[in-house]
Amino acid sequence: MEKIITVDGLASSGKSTLSQNLSKKLGWPWFSTGVLYRGMAYVGLKENFTEKEYLSFFKSQDWSIQLTDLKSLFFYRGKDISPQLYQPAIDEKASLFSSHPPYRKALISVQRAFYKPHSEKGLVLEGRDCGTVLFPSAPLKIFLTAPDDRRAKRRARDRKETAQVILQSQKSRDQRDQERSFAPAVPPEDALCLDSGKYTASQLVDIVYQKAQTTFLL
Ligand code: DC
Repeated sequence: MEKIITVDGLASSGKSTLSQNLSKKLGWPWFSTGVLYRGMAYVGLKENFTEKEYLSFFKSQDWSIQLTDLKSLFFYRGKDISPQLYQPAIDEKASLFSSHPPYRKALISVQRAFYKPHSEKGLVLEGRDCGTVLFPSAPLKIFLTAPDDRRAKRRARDRKETAQVILQSQKSRDQRDQERSFAPAVPPEDALCLDSGKYTASQLVDIVYQKAQTTFLL
């Protein structure tokens, strides 16, 4: 059985907090797949890539991702650029980039390859399509939701913006994520759907951890 837990959901629904806590509790690494989209979009913007250049960059040795239980880091030409990736301009650019089917399709095998080195220990994968497209056979799939205003408040805190401003851009990114033709951010049929607004972070991780114990016989 694949030792994979997928945690999908819309922006700021609490996926990273849950995945990080789960990763610590299980001792499994955590891969926040959003960092891949953010990193690629950031480099593409900086280098003004054409579609062809993007596709060859994906296959190059110029980038790498390092997983820890605290963060997923994106390196470009040996430098950790992760701190630059979490800002409003990249939220928008990554959302646009990730709605382009050729990029998504090319990045499927790239993301799947992250499991192999961790297949004995297990891997927590977080994103939008981890349970639907990347690992549809994952034994445990979570889909997180949270009310729009709560998600906006959460991101406003992280980005030092007002919730009002965030709410506007969040709406258009949600729509793009949910309505794109390929790999939309929708719950996998067999997912456990949880509203993160109804629980504390520790209640939420306990629920999923218990589920993991019975699923993976831990
Ligand atoms: O989870 P995040 O906010 O770091 O994701 C950044 C962007 O990448 C966001 O616009 C959605 C997109 N994304 C995606 O389309 N599929 C994934 N598996 C992960 C992220």
